[in-house]
Amino acid sequence: MARTALVTGGSRGIGAAISKALKADGYNVAATYAGNDEAAASFTEETGIKTYKWNVGDYAESKAGIEKVEAEVGPIDVVVANAGITRDAPFHKMTPEQWQQVIDTNLTGVFNTVHPVWPGMRERKFGRVIVISSVNGQKGQFAQVNYAATKAGDIGIVRSLAQEGARAGITANAVCPGYIATEMVMAVPEKVREAIISQIPAGRLGEPEEIARCVAFLASDDAQFINGSTISANGAQFFG
Ligand SMILES: NC(=O)c1ccc[n+]([C@@H]2O[C@H](COP(=O)([O-])OP(=O)(O)OC[C@H]3O[C@@H](n4cnc5c(N)ncnc54)[C@H](OP(=O)(O)O)[C@@H]3O)[C@@H](O)[C@H]2O)c1
Repeated sequence: MARTALVTGGSRGIGAAISKALKADGYNVAATYAGNDEAAASFTEETGIKTYKWNVGDYAESKAGIEKVEAEVGPIDVVVANAGITRDAPFHKMTPEQWQQVIDTNLTGVFNTVHPVWPGMRERKFGRVIVISSVNGQKGQFAQVNYAATKAGDIGIVRSLAQEGARAGITANAVCPGYIATEMVMAVPEKVREAIISQIPAGRLGEPEEIARCVAFLASDDAQFINGSTISANGAQFFG
């Protein structure tokens, strides 16, 4: 029987590429989004993948949404915590609101997405938790104290979940993209984007599909012994 995959923020950008790659691999896929109904509707029209709207920062909404997905699509075997936002500002100008919005969506959102599906995965003795972190969680980034904190947090989450889930057949891994050509990156001023590209040894932005392929591999049976790891896909941006 086909496995079911849930991709948060799966209607646009990297998440959309992940949803499509998992569908191509034979999963029943459900994708979530926050508020952009138009993008979600055209994504469903294009791909046939069902979309669900809820705020990953809200536990009750996430739990109710996941129950609906499980009733309509199937018990979730693969969960991809991809939804994320940026609210960049140098630390001396960062507001408590900017800090909190990013923590709520990017970090608490991972808890809210994985916690409701975890008991079912334990019961069925199979699960794949894949969290989309970032190179900036590995190395830090100017004006991203909030974002980098959440993305570094993702790595701690998967390393801990891996230890809790290993004997129940559940793996938990992170993918750390470098700069990928999505609306999130295309929204930064062109001058800044050019400066970013000049720092990437590959000399280009990554494509969403290049991240989706990492996720599809981690979801597969071949990746059973990969647990608590991070896969970096960043065009050779070195840090350390
Ligand atoms: N792009 C990059 O270069 C890059 C690099 C490293 C890591 N990442 C990470 O990769 C992930 C995807 O990034 P992206 O560039 O593809 O982003 P994107 O194009 O801005 O798409 C974000 C997706 O997340 C959804 N979303 C945002 N806030 C949400 C919330 N509170 N609840 C539910 N869904 C929410 C959006 O829904 P709506 O359509 O309704 O807004 C959208 O589907 C993020 O975690 C990001 O941090 C991106």
